[in-house]
Order: sequence, then structure tokens, then C-alpha cells
Amino acid sequence: MWSIRSSTVCCGIRVHERPDAHRAVAAGMLAIVSATPEENATLVASLTGVTTREYGRRHYHVGSYRSVEVVVVFSRMGKVAAAATAAQLLASFPVSALVFSGVAGAVRAGLAIGDVVVGTELLQHDMDATPLFPRYEVPLCGTDRFVAAAPLRARLRQAAEEFLRQDLHSAVAAAELAAFKIRAPRVSEGMIVSGDKFFASSAELDELRQRLPLALCVEMEGAAVAQVCDEYAVPFGIVRVISDAADETAVHDFPRFSREIARHYSTGILARFAQRL
Ligand code: ADE
Repeated sequence: MWSIRSSTVCCGIRVHERPDAHRAVAAGMLAIVSATPEENATLVASLTGVTTREYGRRHYHVGSYRSVEVVVVFSRMGKVAAAATAAQLLASFPVSALVFSGVAGAVRAGLAIGDVVVGTELLQHDMDATPLFPRYEVPLCGTDRFVAAAPLRARLRQAAEEFLRQDLHSAVAAAELAAFKIRAPRVSEGMIVSGDKFFASSAELDELRQRLPLALCVEMEGAAVAQVCDEYAVPFGIVRVISDAADETAVHDFPRFSREIARHYSTGILARFAQRL
């Protein structure tokens, strides 16, 4: 028989004193979605009391992560994959907040590989139903952007800053930091743009910068997940680490960064995020 000694609710997420108490409560889970298998596998390995359910070729792992009830899933890449995963997740589990962690290509000049971006608003850069709707507006949603929840954003930012200041050099091998010239990475907050395109060309990157001057970084899932969260009225936060410059070098940097470094950032940031709940 399970009994909960004590629990609190923070950002709508239930946090227990007992690390395995997620089994006793059927509400208020934190969903953590990743777009790379490496990040997902590392997170799943650090859960306790894991049970797994499979829907639509996705594995939803329920467990306890630093005393927080979580459901963790690998979405795969692209807007359709991410939206399908998020919709199934929110329909099947009692989720009160969703955090998406992953990598992104830099758009804003000055952002470097290893910097972290916390999304304030998410926009689909490839949405274009003109002339029926204004450019970027999501048909019948009445908006072109979805806004991340302020409390989640604030905690993600604090967690990322602490990670960079205190954990980065023990979490990531010095040789990898040197290979990517990661010296004094910073955290920024701003617009993240998403679409079904991997940017690996300076000309296309310049064109994106001109079209969307507020964009800090580009990835392939966030705005789709944000739209699903909006439709299910579930608050979301998105944190991305810059893996590449979204130009011709991206084809080399993205796979190496995703393989060797991304998971250390995401687990480090999410561990500190969970401590703050
Ligand atoms: N995710 C990481 N790097 C990216 C890029 N260059 N384009 C789109 N999505 C990305």
C-alpha cells in the first residue's frame, strides 16, 4: 500500500518527498519530450520505478525523476512526429506541464555553439496559408505564435544558468568543449522558430534572418509541440542548446554535437530544473 508522506504542487506539477511515489498519484505529471534518442535514453536511465507504455511507435516512460513524477518520450524529428507524440502524450497521461529539450541551429548573430536558448514564443517559419490567412498564422488558431509559460521559462533559465556556471566542465569532456570552441556559453531568451527543414546553407539562413528578425534559433519541433499544448491548455517550456551555426558547417557539427554533447546539457539542465519545482 502506498502512502505519501508529503507533496507540494509547483507549476502544477506534483513533487513528492518519496522518490518512487509517482505510482501513488495520478495527476500532475511533468512531461519531458526530446527530439534526439541520446537525450531521451540518458533521461530514461536516470528515472526510478519506470513503467513504459507504447502508442504509435513511441515509448512513453513513466517514472520518478528527482522526486518529480514524469513521463519521458522521444518524439523523433519534424513537426508531424512531434505533434503526434505530444497529442498522444497529453491525451493519455495526466500531464500538467510539458518541457521540450533539444538542440537548435543559431539564427541570431552572436549566438555560439554551446549557448542555451529558452523559448519565449514559438513560431512555424514554414507556415504560409496566404492569401487565406496572414503569413505564419496557424489557420483557425488566430495567431502565428504560441507563448511559453512564464514560470517554466524562469525556472528553465535559472537551471540553464546554474548548469553552465557550475556543471558544464564536469559534465562535458574538455576535448569536446575545445572541439566546438565552447568557452563561456550564455543563456538567452527569445523567439524560437520551427519547421520541416534542416538549415545548412548561409544563403537560406540569411533569408530566414530577414524574414524573421526576432528569431534566435531554428529547430524542427518546438512550435508544433507548443500548438498542441495550447490546444490542450497545458503550459509548456522549451529549452534548446545551440548545436550548429545553421550554415554549411551544420552538416558536420549537428551530428557530432547531438551524439557527444547534447545529452549532457539536457540532463544537467533538467536535473537543476526539477530541483527548482
Ligand atoms: N536543429 C539543430 N540544428 C538545426 C538546423 N541547422 N536546422 C534545423 N533544425 C536544427
